[in-house]
Amino acid sequence: MNANPVQFHDRMLSLGLARVSEAAAMASARLIGRGDEKAADQAAVNAMREQLNMLDIAGVVVIGEGERDEAPMLFIGEEVGTGEGPAVDIALDPLEGTTLTAKDMPNALTVIAMAPRGTLLHAPDVYMDKLAIGPGYEPDTVTMDMSPAERVRALAAAKGGETEDITVCVLERPRHEEMIAEIRSTGAAIRLITDGDVAGVIHCAEPHLTGIDMYMGSGGAPEGVLAAAALKCMGGQMYGRLLFRNDDERGRAAKAGIEDLDRVYRRDDMVTQDVIFAATGVTDGSILPGVKRELGYLTTETLLMRSKTGSVRRMSYRNPS
Ligand code: FBP
Repeated sequence: MNANPVQFHDRMLSLGLARVSEAAAMASARLIGRGDEKAADQAAVNAMREQLNMLDIAGVVVIGEGERDEAPMLFIGEEVGTGEGPAVDIALDPLEGTTLTAKDMPNALTVIAMAPRGTLLHAPDVYMDKLAIGPGYEPDTVTMDMSPAERVRALAAAKGGETEDITVCVLERPRHEEMIAEIRSTGAAIRLITDGDVAGVIHCAEPHLTGIDMYMGSGGAPEGVLAAAALKCMGGQMYGRLLFRNDDERGRAAKAGIEDLDRVYRRDDMVTQDVIFAATGVTDGSILPGVKRELGYLTTETLLMRSKTGSVRRMSYRNPS
């Protein structure tokens, strides 16, 4: 225990966090559309790690590239930063949408969140069943206990419209076929995405811009914590329940200190205190434009947010490349 803990000055740290996210995006931009997911991810990881280690923080990666034995860099438990500064948890995905980047498809992002030590859920690398809606609704307008059709009807009623007025964002996967059919049977529309459910969830926070009211379905648990951090800054409700397919996955949960395997986590259970969140567009998307290249320069756009103030900043950065 540090006898003289350094305060988590989220305002001071936020620009540093944006730099980390920008650097990862610029590095992976060189690999957009080259068909090499691993190289794109590696470039983002290297750049993110280098920038992160320049920050005056005593950081620990709690959501990262994987367990120590499977990820050489930015693994779960890796200490990052100069060590001179506040003790913080770091959740990151240096390239959210490796396939999107390799194929030059929309909505690839670099993502990072920072919060005081011990306040981000140490989600194991398993799937999570996710449900999210935007701000302005009563608590528990939709719940994990409701069927997909019940959620659509409840949200339509709360929105003051019909089920036809609801659009749900869903990852296009065979495992979601039944859910998709049930949602469509209500008359609601579905925006299918091929990857990138952090962006999928963020869409709910700005329905007037994105046209999406609700996110539903399973995806990575680490991405779930990152999405919860974003919604905590932007407003909106989110729930997640970890999904386990075998004993190895249950073992990962035990290692992460999770005892109740059936627990439904609310947004604020996943991110219990103030958080800062940065995401930079890699490929063009509905939330952020991607990295723009012109001779000698790269330009990025970053979303930088603080839950303490609810401030949402969009920052453009042009840098000689
Ligand atoms: P990567 O960028 O690591 O490939 O993740 C992309 C992603 O689409 C996530 O956004 C999502 O949570 C997860 O993969 C879904 O997993 P799966 O492809 O196994 O359904």
